[in-house]
Amino acid sequence: MKGKILLTGVNGFLGRNIYSLLRPAFNEDDFVFLLRSHRKDIAEEMKLKNVYLLSSSLDDMDLYKRIFKEHDVETVIHCAAIPKETRMKWQEYEHVNIKWPKVLADSFCRFSKKAKRFIFISSIGVYGTSPYKPYISEQDRPMPDGKYHLSKKLAEDALISIFSKENNEDINLFVLRLNTLYGKDDKGVLWKMFCLLKKRILPIWGELETSFCSVDLVAEAIFALLSSKNNRGVVLNVSEPSFNLIDFLERESQFILYQKIKPIKLPRWSARPLFLFNSAWISNKVALLSGDKSYDISKLESLINRKVKPMEMFPKYRQYYRGCVS
Ligand SMILES: NC(=O)c1ccc[n+]([C@@H]2O[C@H](COP(=O)([O-])OP(=O)(O)OC[C@H]3O[C@@H](n4cnc5c(N)ncnc54)[C@H](OP(=O)(O)O)[C@@H]3O)[C@@H](O)[C@H]2O)c1
Repeated sequence: MKGKILLTGVNGFLGRNIYSLLRPAFNEDDFVFLLRSHRKDIAEEMKLKNVYLLSSSLDDMDLYKRIFKEHDVETVIHCAAIPKETRMKWQEYEHVNIKWPKVLADSFCRFSKKAKRFIFISSIGVYGTSPYKPYISEQDRPMPDGKYHLSKKLAEDALISIFSKENNEDINLFVLRLNTLYGKDDKGVLWKMFCLLKKRILPIWGELETSFCSVDLVAEAIFALLSSKNNRGVVLNVSEPSFNLIDFLERESQFILYQKIKPIKLPRWSARPLFLFNSAWISNKVALLSGDKSYDISKLESLINRKVKPMEMFPKYRQYYRGCVS
């Protein structure tokens, strides 16, 4: 690799994992980081080099111009974002999740002489939670619900428009639509599931077929994009195949909780009234526990050149989840 990688969000769950999984294949100096100034201590703690701090504004074009003049950045991995549905106002999502990637991508194309690829971390949630579709491929029309998923979709559209206007065929956009992640430092869905399972209050509606994605699979996909010579830009679902969640939790509870515990099984129809609350926060959560999901991952498998199995990396993280629930 000739140019450097600019990574945003290295202090977050995914960013930190991407960095530690990519790092062994590169030199320390091959990375450039963009962090908010209040995370300066984390940069010191992680002993990062080439750190640029954002003060109040995320659209500080002068700062981006300076970064791209001082470093030959070949790849941007834009990972930082408001990563879930919260009570924050839409304007905040618009600013952080849409405007920021737009300004960063625009500056990258304009000022980086080595610009080659912009990898945008999106979410598989852009397909929407309801009305529910059981099998989704990249050809399906996204139907985002809620501020978080909508902001990711609008950011994707804005980036696609920026990169399609670029006359230079050597600069490409890669949109990675990630499924719900698991891995070290996860404080998200799977972690919460084990905490609730321990208290025996985890409900699952129906015989739920669902899927997750390991941080390792994300890093593997990024690796494949970095090492492939003639990749055209692409939108990619990054997910493992689906599996029966009840069987998985019961089996894994033996390793994580040291006893076999089954989630509370409820009939699928009883989840329906919960969608009537019409809050994206509730419907996203209920959809995770009640709606069957499977994604077409053939594009991902052809990129990384191997078959992907359900929860293939989970044993690597048993120790982490064990520590979290205890
Ligand atoms: N976790 C999942 O299951 C999942 C699934 C699909 C997609 N993703 C995507 O993966 C990416 C990383 O998510 P994560 O799970 O690693 O989340 P995380 O641990 O909360 O990290 C979020 C990162 O974004 C930054 N960020 C958050 N709010 C910000 C703001 N207002 N202004 C500037 N920076 C801000 C954070 O920096 P500060 O500490 O400075 O706030 C942090 O570096 C996101 O793009 C998310 O949409 C995650």
